[in-house]
Amino acid sequence: MVSGGDERHLVVSRIRRGTVIDHIPAGRALSVLRILGLTGREGYRIAIVMNVESRRLGRKDIVKIEDVFVDQEMARRIALIAPQATLNVVENYEVVEKRKLQPPEEIVGILRCTNPTCITRKPREPIRSRFRRLPGGKLRYQCVYCGTILEEEDIITQLTGHDHH
Ligand code: CTP
Ligand code: ZN
Repeated sequence: MVSGGDERHLVVSRIRRGTVIDHIPAGRALSVLRILGLTGREGYRIAIVMNVESRRLGRKDIVKIEDVFVDQEMARRIALIAPQATLNVVENYEVVEKRKLQPPEEIVGILRCTNPTCITRKPREPIRSRFRRLPGGKLRYQCVYCGTILEEEDIITQLTGHDHH
């Protein structure tokens, strides 16, 4: 890790090939890695930059992972904790694709309703969970079946298995 000091920019190498996830809300880089299932023990070269200045977000995190590419399903999950993140695909040191992540309007099957009596939690008649995004700045999703609302913190906890303070 590199320490910030007075430097305007942290020096973190450009990568040759892989994925750069940029504009992650400050403090969520580790949650993004967790969603990707990366622990660091897989052997990939990973750079984690946290709490650096960003014009757009004030502070942001960046994750660079060599030789890993993120599929649509994973990108959708990441969008739930890092809305507005940018997913850069790098080949030969060049950004060959830039995907702006956006939180989905509807989420089917990924999240679990927190209401224990919700029809989606009946053990015998499994109905896939389905949530719709509520308007507003904060990420909030409402269960289509029982109306229960998942707050951003609930979503992070569910996706990462960790409490977010
Ligand atoms: N990057 C990298 N290795 C490369 C190319 C790019 O690590 N070989 C990183 C850059 O450091 C940056 C991100 O990927 O964090 C996106 O690169 P680029 O599109 O060149 O930067 P910006 O134009 O600043 O991106 P944006 O407009 O999305 O903020
Ligand atoms: Zn429900």
